[in-house]
Amino acid sequence: MRRVKIFDTTLRDGEQSPGCSMNLNEKAVMAQQLDKLGVDVIEAGFAIASPMDFKSVQTIAASLSENTSCVVASLARAAKGDIDLAWDAVKGAKNPRIHVFLATSDVHMKYKLRMTPEQVLNTVSEMVAYAKSFCDDIEFSAEDASRSEPEFLAKVYSNAIAAGATTINVPDTVGYSTPQEMANLITYLREHVKGIEAVDISVHCHNDLGMGVANSLACVKAGATQVECTINGIGERAGNASLEEIVMALRTRKDFYNADTNIDTKQIYRSSKLLSNIIGVPIWPTKPVVGSNAFAHEAGIHQHGVIANTQTYEIMNPEDIGIPHNTLVLGKHSGKHALRERLVSMGYELSDAELEDVFVRFKNLADKKKNITSSDIEALILHRNKNQDNLNLQFISHVVNAGRDVPNMSCIKLERDGEILQEVAIGAGPLDASFKAINKMLGVDVKLHSFSLNAVTDGEDAIGEAVVKISDDKHSGGHTFTGSGLSTDIIESSIRAYVNGINKMLDADI
Ligand code: KIV
Ligand code: ZN
Repeated sequence: MRRVKIFDTTLRDGEQSPGCSMNLNEKAVMAQQLDKLGVDVIEAGFAIASPMDFKSVQTIAASLSENTSCVVASLARAAKGDIDLAWDAVKGAKNPRIHVFLATSDVHMKYKLRMTPEQVLNTVSEMVAYAKSFCDDIEFSAEDASRSEPEFLAKVYSNAIAAGATTINVPDTVGYSTPQEMANLITYLREHVKGIEAVDISVHCHNDLGMGVANSLACVKAGATQVECTINGIGERAGNASLEEIVMALRTRKDFYNADTNIDTKQIYRSSKLLSNIIGVPIWPTKPVVGSNAFAHEAGIHQHGVIANTQTYEIMNPEDIGIPHNTLVLGKHSGKHALRERLVSMGYELSDAELEDVFVRFKNLADKKKNITSSDIEALILHRNKNQDNLNLQFISHVVNAGRDVPNMSCIKLERDGEILQEVAIGAGPLDASFKAINKMLGVDVKLHSFSLNAVTDGEDAIGEAVVKISDDKHSGGHTFTGSGLSTDIIESSIRAYVNGINKMLDADI
């Protein structure tokens, strides 16, 4: 059985896509979860892209546990300045990697790089050798490899290996290839690249034609030893190949691929939920592996089959992915011990202080909601990071007077550095009035780009999770901030989400 390495680029290729940005704390939390998940490499960012990117890579590099075997990588163009910063950012990691890339297709060389093939070959040799002077672990990517001349590509990779690359990556940058073409390319490179048997062969497939996962798997079958992917398939344009689909395809079809990964599959669902919660992008119901319908059986004939034997219609076991049974677990009278036990059985190990925080919120919830399920507890856990973030502004209370043919009025109370702030506003509806009151109170001009509200569980007393995407004129480039909030009262969860978004906006100024 071959072991295929999983290179996770959620925090780099994923994060650079619109609407998926994360702040420093969120990236650090996500990186911890990726380490727990068992990915072999975390691409933590593109150090030269911005001071914030640099800081995130540096923080992640230093924050993984001493015992981790996970590699932390920073992306760098094939240029000295990029490589210097990438090394500066990752050098604190236990296992650092510099990931150098340069485009090799005719269209990229001619129009984007304005370089001749000869210049590209020389630059690859020089810059990979330069990166190697800092770090043993060097990955080289030929951007747009799948649309490059195979003969030229083989020369490029041969140069990269001769200069010290330990992994060569073959990206389908624009998601153009088909599985057969990608497999043929890997086979060709294995036959024509000098020294390829001594390095990892990686693939990096985008999903523009919906073939990112199929292309990656075809490459594994053809001999690739590393797959680059992201949680929930987030990434540029239509995204990258999805980690959970690749891992579960290899696991479920070991008989076909004869390959497996080091991933702790029980952490998959949690990783997917955490990312979705951080970036405020919901997982669509029919998403393979982690979608809410992935294990739901509606048709009577299917239900009958699954009751008789789950294998009739289920090719994977939901427990293997870490999907909790949504059973009634706790109620108003449950104590801290019972909560801790339940959390442990769901795979969450909290410190005493974290447990205390979740317990207080659990008790508040139990006052309003009779039956508390695994999904409710999971939502409390996911939102605990928000509480740690929100040091700037704290939501205290709201009073809303709303209805048809009456002025919709909201009075909001917040706390900032121990000071109580209060404001009243009238709006087109209760949320509009609430958001206007907050803007007026803080003297900010926040624009609301999107708003969504979802029930965490079924039932009339379900918790509502609100997600907002906001921006203002101070943060350029159309940068939006995602805020989310949780409550059994949907107006309160919406106000909490708005305040959480503003906190992130204020955080970005520091
Ligand atoms: O899609 C791509 O080509 C990339 C490279 C930088 C690896 O993201
Ligand atoms: Zn990419």
